[in-house]
Amino acid sequence: MDLGLKGKVAIVAASSKGMGKATAMALAAEGSRVTVLARDEAQLRRAAEEIRGRHGVEVLAVPADVTHADDVKRVVRETVERWGTVHVLVNNAGGPPGGVFDDMDDAKWQSAYELNLLSTIRLVREVLPHMRKAGGGVIINLQSTSVKVPLDNLILSNTIRSGVIGLAKSLSLELAKDGIRVNNVLPGAIMTDRLRQMVGLRAQKLGKTFEELQRAREAEIPLGRIGEPEDVANMIVFLASDRARYVTGVTVQVDGGLVRSML
Ligand SMILES: NC(=O)c1ccc[n+]([C@@H]2O[C@H](COP(=O)([O-])OP(=O)(O)OC[C@H]3O[C@@H](n4cnc5c(N)ncnc54)[C@H](OP(=O)(O)O)[C@@H]3O)[C@@H](O)[C@H]2O)c1
Repeated sequence: MDLGLKGKVAIVAASSKGMGKATAMALAAEGSRVTVLARDEAQLRRAAEEIRGRHGVEVLAVPADVTHADDVKRVVRETVERWGTVHVLVNNAGGPPGGVFDDMDDAKWQSAYELNLLSTIRLVREVLPHMRKAGGGVIINLQSTSVKVPLDNLILSNTIRSGVIGLAKSLSLELAKDGIRVNNVLPGAIMTDRLRQMVGLRAQKLGKTFEELQRAREAEIPLGRIGEPEDVANMIVFLASDRARYVTGVTVQVDGGLVRSML
């Protein structure tokens, strides 16, 4: 199936590993030119090299922290200097730390807001003039099923990510006239370093092995396995493509059936 992504320019935030990297890889596989960004420069350059080597497309690596306004501006500026525009923006960032309400002071709330909501606002602000000039574009926010079913001990994620969903729905309405589509993708449990770390910590706390906790998690998932980063990337690529040209303002989970709500 031709997804119409050949030659398109995509920025994928937080993309040196995990779902961000898998998304950049999957867009590159469709022939898109991709900007990748993350804080650890060495790891970012390795990821860029791997994507380039595997798919033979142009990849721009911009070391950047999505919580820094100047970095966000630089990422978009360097992308546009290189390729003239931006067609696709995938918003992503690290996850906020775990904890319950009593663990959180103002500084922690502020950091989570800056990491997961303000970074999205800033990236959208920077790409909009270019998408409008190009006559359209696609914005996809990678969030979490925590916006549908709150996760235990993750009050920052449960709260701040819901703000991104509100932002996205409003943007989808405001930007439709500009030909810009805005959608959200919600991963369930996906095997990345972040999940490995969280399961590892929990195993330690409960005096169980990593494998025991992994099996318990898999038993809760109707499709019977923890997802791969590529499972999420495939959905993002579809939403980024012309095949999803009539889809905007939606929030789709990629979770093996974990969320049991009907909508
Ligand atoms: N894995 C899951 O099961 C799961 C499920 C639902 C939601 N999520 C959420 O999905 C997002 C991606 O998760 P993942 O599992 O793919 O994580 P991951 O494998 O740990 O990768 C995170 C990526 O984000 C980059 N990053 C982190 N903070 C950044 C910042 N401030 N500025 C720029 N880049 C940054 C990291 O590179 P640097 O550290 O070098 O910057 C890395 O490339 C997170 O928000 C996570 O909470 C994950």
